[in-house]
Amino acid sequence: MGAASRLEEIDMPSAPQGKDLERIGVAIDAGLLSKFDELIARRGYTNRSEAFRDLIRAELVKEAADQPSGRVTGTITLLYDHHVRLLNEKLTGLQHEFHHQILSTLHLHLDHDNCLEVIVVKGESADVRALADRLIATRGVKHGRLVLSGTGPEF
Ligand code: NI
Repeated sequence: MGAASRLEEIDMPSAPQGKDLERIGVAIDAGLLSKFDELIARRGYTNRSEAFRDLIRAELVKEAADQPSGRVTGTITLLYDHHVRLLNEKLTGLQHEFHHQILSTLHLHLDHDNCLEVIVVKGESADVRALADRLIATRGVKHGRLVLSGTGPEF
C-alpha cells in the first residue's frame, strides 16, 4: 500500500477543543488529487484534512503579510561578520528604532568572525518588512531572511 492510499484512511480532526468543526466535500479531479496526496505524503502529513487546514492558514498568513496594516509575527535571521566597521552599532540602532516591533533577540557567536542573530518580531506587516529590509541591506550582513507567521488567535 502506497503513501497516497494511506492518506485516505484516517481523517481525524485535530482542531483545538471548543472549536466547532464543519465537514465539507470538495470536488477535485483525480489527477490533481493524486499530485496533492504525493505532495503531502512527502511533507509528512498523515491525512488530507490537516494538509488542507495548513494550506488555508498559509494563505491567510500570506494575505495578512501582503497588506501593509496586516498583523503578523515572525523572525528575522541575520548572519554577519561583526568585524565590519560600525556594523554592530548600525544593527543595534535599527533595532532601537523599531523597538515596538521587536519581542526578543537571540545572538550567537558562531565562530571567530561570524554572528547569527534571530530577532522575533510582531506588528504591522509594513513595519516588520521595513525593519527586515533595512537590517538585511546593511553592509556586512552576509545573509538575511524574514519569515512571517500569523499572530495566533485568528486560527
Ligand atoms: Ni557575536
